[in-house]
Amino acid sequence: MEAFRYDTQTCVYWGRNALKDNADKLEEFGKKAVIVTSKFVEGCPNLALEDLKDVFADLGVEYKILDDVMENPPVENIVAMYEKLEGFKPDFVFGVGGGSAMDAAKALTQYINDGPGDAYQIFFWPGKLLNNYKNMCDIPVFTIPTTAGTGSEVTGGAVLTRADKDTKESMNMWLYPEISFVDPRYLESAPLFLLDTGVIDALAHGVEGSLHKDANVMNKAISDAAFEMFAEFKDDLLNNTLTQEQFDKMSAHSMMQGVSFMQSCTTVPHGLGYPLSHYKHVCHGLACGIFLGEYLKSFKDQSLVQPIVEKCGFKDSTEFAEYVRKLTNRDVEIEVTEEELQKWTDMFMTQQTWRLEANPEKLDREDIYNLFRTSLAAYIKE
Ligand SMILES: [Fe+2]
Repeated sequence: MEAFRYDTQTCVYWGRNALKDNADKLEEFGKKAVIVTSKFVEGCPNLALEDLKDVFADLGVEYKILDDVMENPPVENIVAMYEKLEGFKPDFVFGVGGGSAMDAAKALTQYINDGPGDAYQIFFWPGKLLNNYKNMCDIPVFTIPTTAGTGSEVTGGAVLTRADKDTKESMNMWLYPEISFVDPRYLESAPLFLLDTGVIDALAHGVEGSLHKDANVMNKAISDAAFEMFAEFKDDLLNNTLTQEQFDKMSAHSMMQGVSFMQSCTTVPHGLGYPLSHYKHVCHGLACGIFLGEYLKSFKDQSLVQPIVEKCGFKDSTEFAEYVRKLTNRDVEIEVTEEELQKWTDMFMTQQTWRLEANPEKLDREDIYNLFRTSLAAYIKE
């Protein structure tokens, strides 16, 4: 068997009422906190924020709420939130919400720790990723996910939008949450498109993380168990007939796929999805998911992908792709041009070559262009 690395650093309390049932675990971290969250879709209550306010009242924790996280948070969004603190120095930071809120909480924590200063230098200093995978931050960050997709509650990365490069990128520093409180109740009031984008993002994490060249026996086992959970709720997600038990599985699926892809990484579909979220404002998960089916169908050696699609409850990669297309089609309304496909292909081939190196099969420019073309066929405006 091949040698491998397995590393996970976040303590997770998973379950209904996870936060209130384990609130005592916060006692040792201090009495001043910052809560980073976003404004929820009209009519959707931020139940996690209400729970956290109750817990802080009981524990006597003083807090400030920053609720203006933007989707795919730009670096400037983080700096603006820092300025709103007006010198308030927290003992710890809480990210409450979807991936953008949790990633923004990680970035803000790093900026409070290392700043103020040139934010681009703090988040993306030259030299690329540290390989020690350890937090280099004295302020702990905690998370409460209210969507089931990003896995940010168990990963060390934070993806930010860079104005200087006109793209999204993970900040260089790893910052794993100290504790994540994962409660499937928060999913039950989410609008359907948020469930779709979350589930498809988590699915992409599992698929890409399992097929990555650095995938290992442990992360593949975790993903396999999560794929089997996905199989149990996928049809009811499509029909909008989810039960409490299925919301539980959706929550666990996302968290487990997060643990899995943190051991390897995402690969091609995530790279293809970036321009859709950046230029067309498609939600991250849907943007990646649009490519997932055609990506699996494009494998010359289908024996690599067949075990995955079967665990997900499909006959083959064609059936998998049909399911994903139904899910993404109902939420995505965009138009793309041939010129954009060419531009995005060139961007991928210059900025994302590491994704090609991580892919189990060799792909060239024509392959990447074909993935854009076939996956976006329904949206191309001639
Ligand atoms: Fe993702």
